[in-house]
Amino acid sequence: MAPKPDFSIIGCGRVGIALAVFLSRAGYRPAGFFSKSAGSAQKACDTAGAGKVAESAVQAAAMAKVVFISTPDQAIESVCEDLAEHPEKMQGITVFHLSGALSSDILISARQAGASAGSIHPLQSFAPFQGGQSSPFSGINMSIEGDDLAVELGKTIVRDLEARYFCIPTPAKTLYHAAAVVASNYLVTLEHFALELLNQADLSPEKAFEILEPLIWGTLNNIKSQGTINALTGPVARGDATVVGNHLRDIDKAMPDFKTLYRVLGQHTLEIARKRGEIDPKAAADLARLFEEESS
Ligand SMILES: NC(=O)c1ccc[n+]([C@@H]2O[C@H](COP(=O)([O-])OP(=O)(O)OC[C@H]3O[C@@H](n4cnc5c(N)ncnc54)[C@H](OP(=O)(O)O)[C@@H]3O)[C@@H](O)[C@H]2O)c1
Repeated sequence: MAPKPDFSIIGCGRVGIALAVFLSRAGYRPAGFFSKSAGSAQKACDTAGAGKVAESAVQAAAMAKVVFISTPDQAIESVCEDLAEHPEKMQGITVFHLSGALSSDILISARQAGASAGSIHPLQSFAPFQGGQSSPFSGINMSIEGDDLAVELGKTIVRDLEARYFCIPTPAKTLYHAAAVVASNYLVTLEHFALELLNQADLSPEKAFEILEPLIWGTLNNIKSQGTINALTGPVARGDATVVGNHLRDIDKAMPDFKTLYRVLGQHTLEIARKRGEIDPKAAADLARLFEEESS
């Protein structure tokens, strides 16, 4: 088996330290650590149990074949440009960033200087590394995109972290990230809306969640087993404009801040019902009018 490449970490925070620890456990040798504050780099180095604190990002990059820029997103481009000012140190190395929102295009300066470049995004939320914990990479999904060399190396790295990879086209990175935001953050917003409705019905937040939880899990299971179109139930799927009209009346009165959200969600839910092809066309038109008229 080919030896695992050495790696350096630039930006020693939550993801950088976790990468250092679990890549090291997977047989990759930590080489250099650089961070805005020397204390963070030293902590990463101590936690990984090998490597050296570098005096600059350029020095850290020069110590290894694989360089992870795990700074906050806003700093990735400028850190990469600093590295690219030394093309003699960029030959034969691969530079990765870990951002979900940015593609490897942000690393263009490294490519122009002769490096290979890609992004590896862990679909996971990282807390500060505490030590002794199980791997936050184990079993998660990670997207990979970039040039061919970076993508192939990225696949090996993800496998060695005991995660699953999937590749996406570079121009699709923003839509991919929007999907993650909708699936996670906007789900929170939706459940917040539902809990507020139950709050208006005089139920405490704790009780409200307890009541909704089996419904939420049941819906997720239905989506998993049947897909979104077949998982849809309820008054919009049935074409029941009377029930929806009553919802709108009471929401407008008690919770006007949510009236637009209910209507917009209703419009998109109606589109799903139409795709299933079972909704009566007149009922669908009545619902469409209801969502449309009341929102103006
Ligand atoms: N956290 C998550 O849940 C998560 C999940 C998926 C992907 N990501 C991605 O992972 C990357 C890192 O995020 P994170 O959560 O680990 O951030 P973080 O905890 O804030 O760590 C970033 C580290 O970079 C250092 N740093 C800041 N500017 C720098 C610069 N110009 N040069 C060198 N080091 C610099 C920071 O400063 P100090 O040296 O002062 O400590 C800090 O240690 C981001 O691209 C993020 O989008 C994060």
